Amino acid sequence: MSYSIAIDGPAASGKSTAAKIIAKRLKFLYVDTGAMYRAVTLLMLEKGLDTKDSKQAESILEECHIREDREGRIYLNDRDVTSRVRENDVSSQVSYACAHKCVRERLVALQQEMAKSENVIMDGRDIGTVVLKDATLKVFQIASVQARAERRYLENKAKGIAVESLEQIKEDIERRDYIDSHRENSPLMKASDAIEVDTSDMTIEEEVDVIIHLFRERIGETSWNNLVQSL
Ligand code: DC
Repeated sequence: MSYSIAIDGPAASGKSTAAKIIAKRLKFLYVDTGAMYRAVTLLMLEKGLDTKDSKQAESILEECHIREDREGRIYLNDRDVTSRVRENDVSSQVSYACAHKCVRERLVALQQEMAKSENVIMDGRDIGTVVLKDATLKVFQIASVQARAERRYLENKAKGIAVESLEQIKEDIERRDYIDSHRENSPLMKASDAIEVDTSDMTIEEEVDVIIHLFRERIGETSWNNLVQSL
């Protein structure tokens, strides 16, 4: 039997940083689903398409091959676009491209396929509600807009991505929260059986510890010991 951890939550709530560390520690496969939606968005932008138009989104899906490696790097048609998809032009358009039913169906199928054969930790917006409905543990991670904007600001700075002002980042986060939560297809929503974790005042280490603790509690001591021994 394989285990799965689903982490959902709004933009910049620290999901992927925590998920990557947990994946390393427990030797789970990490899947960054946001990066996949970003890769579709990038392809649309490169082709000069309108990200709000679902017909135009559908037109590129055939030629859009997305792959993630075990280090969480993302490839679009075999091109490494890991840093590129974090840039501002993609961030500001991804909420539109990811809202189309055709895009979601394609990527959800890919994500479910990746989770089939091994222990996995996946983060996104619809993991607990759609992609991994039977996840061993579902976490819904939240944090104040201020805390999220500060994190994104420092993160972009560290990655050498063109830095917007804190106010601009806040506005972008609020706009994306609104679009992600109000879209028709798989809106950002807490699954009824998800555990809410507020990370506003937590460090990444604390966040990781909380999630691992919840997971350990969920599977029980015997299974936990077996898992730890197999690492
Ligand atoms: O987590 P992120 O900021 O990289 O996500 C980018 C966009 O993709 C965000 O606007 C929401 C969307 N997304 C989604 O709709 N479903 C997911 N499972 C993951 C991300």
